[in-house]
Amino acid sequence: MTVKVKDFGLNNLPDAVLEEYGDKTKDPRFRKVMLSLITHLHAFAKDVELTEEEWFAGIQFLTAVGQKCDDVRQEFILLSDTLGLSSLVDSINHDSAGGSATESTVLGPFYAEGAPELPMGANIVQQATEKGIRAVVMGDISNEQGQPIVGATLDVWQSSSDGFYHMQDENMPDHNLTGRFVTGEDGKYYFATEKPAAYPVPTDGPVGDMLRACGRHPMRPGHLHFIITAPGYKRLCTHIFTNEDEYLDSDAVFATKTSLVGEYKDCNDEALAKEMNVEMPFEKVVYNFILAESK
Ligand SMILES: [Fe+2]
Repeated sequence: MTVKVKDFGLNNLPDAVLEEYGDKTKDPRFRKVMLSLITHLHAFAKDVELTEEEWFAGIQFLTAVGQKCDDVRQEFILLSDTLGLSSLVDSINHDSAGGSATESTVLGPFYAEGAPELPMGANIVQQATEKGIRAVVMGDISNEQGQPIVGATLDVWQSSSDGFYHMQDENMPDHNLTGRFVTGEDGKYYFATEKPAAYPVPTDGPVGDMLRACGRHPMRPGHLHFIITAPGYKRLCTHIFTNEDEYLDSDAVFATKTSLVGEYKDCNDEALAKEMNVEMPFEKVVYNFILAESK
């Protein structure tokens, strides 16, 4: 028996690979994704004339990214974030197309299930940071017709004023600076916290090496993270950024949007301080969320 040898080389790559995957991949969406991925991957290698050393350095880099991941460290999300891919995927999937709904932005690598369910108005600070500025965050959650959304769940998480999320700092209580609130009849939300400060994304892993090699700083402007859900509405994953932050024009993960900046102001409202159980002085930010109806 004579077996015909198929020759592979520059003359038929990636076409031969695309043909093989195109013929055999049954699921149409998966097929489309695979063929496009192979096309772009080969085009990239040809474009830069990738050397064998560079190819292996890339393999080692991705291996290190995987090895850096554990239950609380997600180096792949960080890689996606710092390459702008997460922001692009968010934009593709949540293009507001001129609607009035609040813009979304990236999830980031520090979301953890299990935030405590708190009564509206609670303080999400379990352990205060020495330099933390007390803050009250409040606003409406409404639909695009301006009607309050009853029973919306607001999941909030943030870093401390020292720049760490609870899972990054073993001296911090579990789920410090996180909480879940549900809106009542008025659709309003309000809670007390510390004003979020700018912080660096983790730089002690391969993504940090990449940022240094590319001459990029690792800083993110201060922000609160939110996931807001309500029956009949699209899930909103977004931030409120801290105004006047020096990194608003150079977010390490390309996630800032003008419409998501909240104005923190000094507040002298003693009645509010008493109601919210916060000591004076504190700052207040009012930010209204608008959810789009799910179709
Ligand atoms: Fe964050």
